[in-house]
Amino acid sequence: MNKKILLSGVKPTGRPHIGNYFGAMKQFVDLLNTGDYECYFFLADYHALNLIQNAEEMRRHSLDLAIDYLAIGLDPKKATIFKQSDVSAHTELAWIFDTLVAVPYLMRAHAFKASRDKGIEEYIKNKYGLLGYSGISNKDLPDSEKPAISRTPLAQKALKEFNEKINSPEYTAESSFNLTLKVLESINVGTFNYPVLMAADILLYDTKVVPVGQDQKQHVEYARDIAQKFNNAFGETFKLPEPLILGSTGIVPGTDGQKMSKSYNNTIPLFATRSEIEKAVMSIVTDSSGEVPTNVYAIHRLFRPESELKPLYEANKGKYKALKEALIDDIDAFIKPLRERRAELAQDEAKVRQILAEGATKANTVASAKLEEVKKKIGVL
Ligand code: TYM
Repeated sequence: MNKKILLSGVKPTGRPHIGNYFGAMKQFVDLLNTGDYECYFFLADYHALNLIQNAEEMRRHSLDLAIDYLAIGLDPKKATIFKQSDVSAHTELAWIFDTLVAVPYLMRAHAFKASRDKGIEEYIKNKYGLLGYSGISNKDLPDSEKPAISRTPLAQKALKEFNEKINSPEYTAESSFNLTLKVLESINVGTFNYPVLMAADILLYDTKVVPVGQDQKQHVEYARDIAQKFNNAFGETFKLPEPLILGSTGIVPGTDGQKMSKSYNNTIPLFATRSEIEKAVMSIVTDSSGEVPTNVYAIHRLFRPESELKPLYEANKGKYKALKEALIDDIDAFIKPLRERRAELAQDEAKVRQILAEGATKANTVASAKLEEVKKKIGVL
């Protein structure tokens, strides 16, 4: 009895990729199967609403992600699988937390900074006609997560220009504020508040462990901070969660060597067909200066132990095509059973909806009890 609570979620924004899988989803299955945790896995559809604003797409992606969860081996008999929007306590608690956090605190979130930098990029592009800047100033991210372009001298120059501009004497406090507002124009409040809703997702269930990729570490730290803020203000209510990030797969690289991400267009879909795998692998950027194609190797090590890879890469020095072909075979051998299982599960959508409905009932029972406790503490009950 009294198992530790484990919770995590994925946004239904389209097909998950092998970065999502090795960074997070594989851990969901492995940790569930240890039997050591009481597990909650949900579809973060309200988080996805920041990106997917089309009802048909939202419905399709959500059901697809539920099928993906089942296909990777999440057993609904052992874990509670549900949709965030089915448990209204998440958004209600997020509002309560909103009243406890300050604006600059949220402005330090990586996701917000990345959106702000995109705004600066747009501004510079429009103003100076400079092309090709991307994520120019996200200097707080670890190098491996920065888009390659943000490390170029040109990108650094663009950011310097922007900073000089807003700090120059010709700029009054007001005009510099207006310029900043212009840059922020494209960012919706949902993106800004993303970490607050995520804190509510986590804290509602007394979660102890949150398996995620490295890019979500800061968000779990926000959840801890927010729990502490609430506990300090209203008395001991929330447990402090911990991120669980695997060192070896916390940042899975994409076909261009940057972090794999839909927004960088460098993904290998988790349930890819053989021809999709071929296309993605053939597009892996190889560095012609070395004998070992590092980007190929970095993906290959997810599918084959390094003890086997070393002799393979040694025997095929400089033979990029042969190595890519070996990688295609290894990825396909791994994905094929998942793909087939997924196709089978996709036949019975009614059953998947039923699983989500049952998950929602279970999640609601836990979440509404916690919310009631919170409402009493803040004095609205
Ligand atoms: P999402 O859908 O963006 O990502 C899902 C999970 O995939 C991980 N991930 C990666 N891991 C390693 N290498 C990569 N290249 C890579 N790309 C993505 C992410 O770290 C994540 O763990 N904010 C969450 C969704 C969420 C959530 C929560 C998670 C909402 N509420 C509460 C945990 C607890 C997200 O990033 O989803």
